[in-house]
Amino acid sequence: GPDQPLKGRRALVTSGPTHEPIDPVRYIANRSSGKQGHAIAAALAALGAEVTLVTGPVTLPDPPGVRAMHVESARDMLAACRETLPVDVVVCAAAVADWRVADAADQKLKKGSGGDALALSLTENPDILATLSQAGEGRPGLVVGFAAETEQVVEHARAKRDRKGCDWILANDVSAATGTFGGDANTVHLITADGVESWPAQSKAEVGRGLAARIADALGPAA
Ligand code: C5P
Repeated sequence: GPDQPLKGRRALVTSGPTHEPIDPVRYIANRSSGKQGHAIAAALAALGAEVTLVTGPVTLPDPPGVRAMHVESARDMLAACRETLPVDVVVCAAAVADWRVADAADQKLKKGSGGDALALSLTENPDILATLSQAGEGRPGLVVGFAAETEQVVEHARAKRDRKGCDWILANDVSAATGTFGGDANTVHLITADGVESWPAQSKAEVGRGLAARIADALGPAA
């Protein structure tokens, strides 16, 4: 019906940071709160979609009406996403760590194990958005990514859309003055094949509802 336009549609959302182990008790992380990704998952569910939220470690509760899969590392996040396919739409809102420790230790590292300076060797993580964007049998019909930029926001986000191969990018200005990181508000630009829409500054919940409505328009009614 009109208030459940995503009924019969399957959606996948990634959210939060990832934790990349150094040893069994230590990890590398980032400051993502998961607020925007969780808000998108909640908004898609509110429009009737069957939503799987693949989330890294956050302090937020699982949104109502959503199947949550809790993961730690980027590799675990990609595996959980793959398990969830096929979907009609994926929104990659997670702040995935670009790097992981190449050879995480099985036992807790002891002080002095590296002399006076311990060197960690890092290796690149898989790019979940780029992987899910790759053409092929299981590609979701609509793939949406985020671009957090501090300057030339739209231009950089357009280049990111091309590079990743996704359909839409939500670009947000995360320069310090905006308070986006960890805050409740967000100023975004929606970049599609057709052009750019700049949305007014609004809450992350409103951005979630706006995106969910656009997704419903783009997918149309389920067969
Ligand atoms: O390359 P960058 O990290 O700026 O791209 C941001 C977009 O790519 C976000 O949608 C983010 O969720 C996604 N991403 C990902 N896997 C990575 C890195 C980024 O899905 N390893």
